[in-house]
Amino acid sequence: MTTLATSVLGIDFENPFILSSAPPTAKIESIDKAFTLGWGGAVLKTITPDNLEMIEASQRYASWKIGNKVCGFENIELLSHLTINQWLEGIKYLKRKHPNKVQIASIMAPVVKEEWQSLIKTFNNSEVDAFELNFSCPHGMPEKGIGMAIGTNPEISSMITKWVMEVAKKPVFVKLSPNVTNIAEIVKAVEAAGANGFAAINTVQSLMGIDLDTFEPKPNVNGKSTFGGYSGISVKPIGLRCVAQIRQNSNLPILGMGGISNWQDAAEYMCVGADVVQVCTEVMVNGYAVIEAMKQGLLSYLQSKGFNSPANLKNKAIAKLSSHEKLNKKMQVYPHINDELCVKCGKCVTICDESEHSALSLVDGHIEVNHDSCVGCSLCSHICPKSAIKMK
Ligand SMILES: Cc1cc2nc3c(=O)[nH]c(=O)nc-3n(C[C@H](O)[C@H](O)[C@H](O)COP(=O)(O)O)c2cc1C
Repeated sequence: MTTLATSVLGIDFENPFILSSAPPTAKIESIDKAFTLGWGGAVLKTITPDNLEMIEASQRYASWKIGNKVCGFENIELLSHLTINQWLEGIKYLKRKHPNKVQIASIMAPVVKEEWQSLIKTFNNSEVDAFELNFSCPHGMPEKGIGMAIGTNPEISSMITKWVMEVAKKPVFVKLSPNVTNIAEIVKAVEAAGANGFAAINTVQSLMGIDLDTFEPKPNVNGKSTFGGYSGISVKPIGLRCVAQIRQNSNLPILGMGGISNWQDAAEYMCVGADVVQVCTEVMVNGYAVIEAMKQGLLSYLQSKGFNSPANLKNKAIAKLSSHEKLNKKMQVYPHINDELCVKCGKCVTICDESEHSALSLVDGHIEVNHDSCVGCSLCSHICPKSAIKMK
């Protein structure tokens, strides 16, 4: 029997899809609705000490779209606006109503031992199943020396992880930033400090665009802007790379995220090391209901592969990731043109000519491949407007 259920550090997930810490987990009523609709758990919107000032800007989003499709958001939103007591009440209410759903408290505090330990101790006594340390928010908080300012510094990350591990009575996941040169450095520092697992990625620091009439950057806050955090389908390759690099450097559990919009994305994250996955932007674009197709799709896929649970997918692709030096350079593929799909527009010929190799030509209404000059780079197969070229 194939199941979506999986277990991480003794925490049972009825399915591996959980909401990440963000607007879809900012209100108790919304989390209640998400659980009812089938999400396996939620990382609560990041909780801070009640006295940490949280003044938001308007507007908080800019988007990159192709037609009507949102490929990514840049956001400059800060953290939770609920008080600690509101969260404690809400967590209790949610656990009573949804005992099988996982709740993870995302925590952030100033770089002061007592502040981190006091927050952790408060939520030790709540019904949350685990902690996620937000070392990775890329906007607003770094100006105060927290968020990504912590997660880009191995020494500070290690110090705070140690403070937390001294008092935490539940598993602790550290949420990492993709905005570092070498993620392995932070992974090793945090693991040595005693963390139980990782969550990744938080948003990618970005600047969405400039209004060319007014020269005002986006998102426009009364004529000015600041660098924000990029999320959504366009960051998936960055998230996937980071999760793979975490796995290459640690065997601890990983809560993987970044651009997951369907079951295939989730399965890919598992193949590079994720135990469960988190979703934010897809829900902000299409609503909580996307969970149904994600669950059904992953279950059918696991069945088709003869797997019992998502755990069977874990790390499946890791051994296939290597250094460039170790790739087999003797192997060469060539483009094969499907004449039924090809409309002889000549785009592949032009692009191949202008991008170094000049290996394609249009001869008698057919695209010919010159095997002497073709290097098998595959560019033509990606830019063909009719998907008529396959590499073989
Ligand atoms: C509007 C917005 C607010 C967010 N707030 C938080 C937050 O409070 N804490 C946190 O750890 N991550 C926060 N994130 C980051 C997400 O949890 C997630 O790591 C990131 O968006 C990548 O996943 P996605 O591509 O599925 O959105 C936020 C993201 C967005 C878009």
